[in-house]
Amino acid sequence: MNNEKIYIIAIDGPAGSGKGTVAKEISKKLHYHYLDSGAIYRIIALACLKQDINFKDNQELIKLLQKTYISFKQGDSFLDKQNVSNEIRDEQVGKVASQIAQNINLRNSILNYQRNFAKFPGLVAEGRDMATVVFPQAHLKIYLDASVAERAKRRYKQLILKGINVNIGTLASEIIARDKQDMEREHSPLAVDKDSIVLNTDNLSIEQTVNKILDYINTTGADGTKPSAKK
Ligand code: DC
Repeated sequence: MNNEKIYIIAIDGPAGSGKGTVAKEISKKLHYHYLDSGAIYRIIALACLKQDINFKDNQELIKLLQKTYISFKQGDSFLDKQNVSNEIRDEQVGKVASQIAQNINLRNSILNYQRNFAKFPGLVAEGRDMATVVFPQAHLKIYLDASVAERAKRRYKQLILKGINVNIGTLASEIIARDKQDMEREHSPLAVDKDSIVLNTDNLSIEQTVNKILDYINTTGADGTKPSAKK
């Protein structure tokens, strides 16, 4: 069993591209492990907010990391022993996550933690640098994209369903600002890897997107049926 190949599917993309829902669904269908790397950044961001840490100070951030215990269990996210699955989805937490994600020491210190999610039979890993940095050896690399207008519309619908009244124009501006921060940072910016397949989801439902990726998986052998079919 130990020598069996672990198949890795990397799904990257900007906020609101649908990568979370899609990656989770694929991992369920294939019975693969799942890594939501954004949740790691969000948990650290939440810890900064709760403990009033000046996250722009490198020393403070590293000190915090050394005493913070991050874990995931059955789809839930934990900060130390507290279930913070809902709290980390807060807009403010997302903003701070994007800011601390610029810190190279922080990124390096969680690199192995992320890589340890790769377990037999496979892993679906989603984030910003899954294909470029964390799993450059991934068997299939997908970059999920969508226009700002479409992503703002999706976010608007989600918030309205939660009973939160927002302005769609404000949401679009926030999305543009987050994209800029994630794409223009110095270390591991959100970028399309040279081996990535770019999928625009503007006119695709979640189900259609999942099916398209499952088709790629079948043709590249990322499900283990044709192990060396790719390159
Ligand atoms: O995917 P998300 O919105 O939950 O991610 C929150 C922030 O975390 C995102 O704006 C940038 C950062 N992030 C990152 O830098 N690298 C990743 N692999 C995942 C997230």
